[in-house]
Amino acid sequence: MSEQLRELAQAASTCQACALAERRRNVVFGEGNPSSPLVLVGEGPGDTEDATGRPFVGRAGQLLDKALADNGLSRQDVYICNTVKCRAADWSTGKPQNRAPLPEEVTACRQWLVPQLAAIGPKVILCIGAPSAKNLIRKDFKITAERGKYFPSEFAKTAIATLHPAYILRNQSASNDGGYGLLVADIAKAWDTAQRLLAKASGPTERAEPQTTLFE
Ligand code: URA
Ligand code: SF4
Repeated sequence: MSEQLRELAQAASTCQACALAERRRNVVFGEGNPSSPLVLVGEGPGDTEDATGRPFVGRAGQLLDKALADNGLSRQDVYICNTVKCRAADWSTGKPQNRAPLPEEVTACRQWLVPQLAAIGPKVILCIGAPSAKNLIRKDFKITAERGKYFPSEFAKTAIATLHPAYILRNQSASNDGGYGLLVADIAKAWDTAQRLLAKASGPTERAEPQTTLFE
């Protein structure tokens, strides 16, 4: 399984399927525990990620690490990747400004994301931010109204979305956590659900408990 992922990462490292290939320094494929029942899917690499080839290692990534740690988790407990594998930025002023990936870039990069998720086979996908939720849950996903809820997924038993740590950083002030508490709570829900689904899948026999529906 992780052999399959290694081969995919190798193939993706030279991808030229969309315009983001022109300016990238590294394709940021993803990393972590490919056997984890929980996969986090972000928007796309920023400057630090583009420079290092690793997902979520800049300022937003540090906040994500903190939110994982507040749940007793580390990056090695989950698998972390992105909707697009190359940095999306506006270069028109000479100084690159990160931007959301365009629909055609998101569509092109599904050629890597879809087999990546299929190779991992997670129980739960946690979409980090609106672009990821629009890609993996529903085109018109409303992040503030619909974060923290269960949705059906083609690629996992369920998908949940949460606020992007970069958004939280922009919204934080002395009197406002910017939504950080929601990020921590959504990670908790995603992890608990993944563990519950894992236990159910590996349990000796199905217990005759009343089914609670995931898709409330
Ligand atoms: N933001 C993302 O969405 N992904 C990263 O890898 C880094 C920042
Ligand atoms: Fe290929 Fe995805 Fe990079 Fe576009 S963003 S060049 S599709 S790896």
